[in-house]
Amino acid sequence: MKKTVLIGVTGCVAIYKTCEIVRGLQKAGVRCKVVMTESATHFINPLMFRSLTREPVAVGLFDDKPGDPIHHISLSKEADVFLIAPCTANVIAKLANGIADDLLTTTALATEAPLVIAPAMNVNMYEHVATQQNMDTLKSRGVRFIDADSGYLACGDVGKGRLADPDVIVQATLEVLNVKRDLVGKRVLITAGPTVEPIDPVRYISNPSSGKMGFALAEAAADRGADVVVVSGPVSLSDPEGVEVVRVRTACDMLAAVGERFDASDIAIFTAAVSDYRPANPSDRKLKKGADDSALATIELVKNPDILATMGARKHAGQIVVGFAAETENVEENASKKMAAKNADMVVANLATEGLAFGADDNAASIVTAAGVQRFETMPKSELAHRILDAALEL
Ligand code: CTP
Repeated sequence: MKKTVLIGVTGCVAIYKTCEIVRGLQKAGVRCKVVMTESATHFINPLMFRSLTREPVAVGLFDDKPGDPIHHISLSKEADVFLIAPCTANVIAKLANGIADDLLTTTALATEAPLVIAPAMNVNMYEHVATQQNMDTLKSRGVRFIDADSGYLACGDVGKGRLADPDVIVQATLEVLNVKRDLVGKRVLITAGPTVEPIDPVRYISNPSSGKMGFALAEAAADRGADVVVVSGPVSLSDPEGVEVVRVRTACDMLAAVGERFDASDIAIFTAAVSDYRPANPSDRKLKKGADDSALATIELVKNPDILATMGARKHAGQIVVGFAAETENVEENASKKMAAKNADMVVANLATEGLAFGADDNAASIVTAAGVQRFETMPKSELAHRILDAALEL
C-alpha cells in the first residue's frame, strides 16, 4: 500500500513551491493529501492541490464532511508523515504551545505521525528569539526541521528565511517515511501475466494469471527509482505510473520483446505464467463442430521456448535474474532445482493453491537463493514486491 504524506500548507508566498513538493513525492510513489490554513487559501485556491493530488483538500475545522464528522482525527490517522511546508512563524508558535485553533493545527496535535516542518518567513521573523525558541521546543519534542535557505526574500530583504529547495524537502520527507530510493539508475525488466496461445481466432490455451505480482513489482521498483519495463501477456491492469508496459499475447512474442531488452537490464524478474505448450497448427479461421471435429478433439501441441532459461543462459556478469515457481508440492526443493536449471540467481516460490497466487491480492512465498531460504507469511503483493527487491539487492 502507498504511504501517505499529509502536507500542511500555511499562508506564505513560498506556497507555490509546495506544488513541486507534491509532484516530487508523487514521483517517489507517495500518496499526498493536503490540509490548508485559511490564510493559505488567499495565496492559492485549494483547487490547485485538489487537482495535483486528486484528493479532497481540507481547510475548515467545521466543514461538512459527509460520513466523517471528526475530520482532524481521520486525517491525522491517515498520515504516515505530516509535512508542513511552508510553515509560518505563527503556525510554528502555535505548534510549540499546543494551540489547536484550526484544522491544520488541530490535526498536528492529534497525529501520531512524525512531524516535518519546512519554515519560510522574513529574516527578522526567522531570527526572532521567539521563533528560535519555538523551533528549539519543537525540535526537543522530535519534530524534524528542514532549515530555511538564505537569499533574496519575497519582502525584499536578504537573509535566512527562504523555503528550502523542494527537492531537499522531498528527500528529507522520504527519509522520515523510510521510502527506499536504492534502484536509482538501475534498469529492471519484468515479465508478467499469462500468455495466450491461439487454437483458432476464438479459442486459445492460457491460464488464470492476473499479472498482479509482476505489476506490483514494477510499481515497487519504479517507486525505488528504477527505470522499469514490463513485458506483459493479456491482463486487465492499467500501466503503473512511470513504467513502460509492452503488451504481448504469445510466449514467442514475449520472448522476442524480452530478448530485445534483456541485455540492457540490471535486474530481470520473470513472473509471467508462460504457457509451456502451444498449438502446433493454429487455424486462421474458426474451427466448426462437425466439419472440424478431428482438429478440435485432438490438438497437437509443440513446446514453447522457456524465456527465463533462454535469458538465464545469456546472463552477463553483474546482472541479477529472478525466477518464480508456482508449485503444488515440494515447493522449496522444486524452486531450488529450477534456479539451477534456468541459471537464475533467485527463485520466488509459492504454493499454487486455491485462493493464493493466481488472481489474489495477497501471497505467501519462499525466496530461494544459493545462500538459503527466506519464508514470508501471507502479505499484500505490493509488500511482497519490496521484500523480493530487497532480497535481489542483497545477492
Ligand atoms: N518461465 C518462462 N518461460 C516458460 C516457462 C516458464 O520464462 N516457457 C519462467 C516463469 O516466468 C517462472 C519460471 O520460469 O519464472 C518457472 O515457471 P514454472 O511454470 O513454474 O516452471 P516450468 O519451468 O514451466 O516447470 P514445470 O511446469 O514443470 O513446473
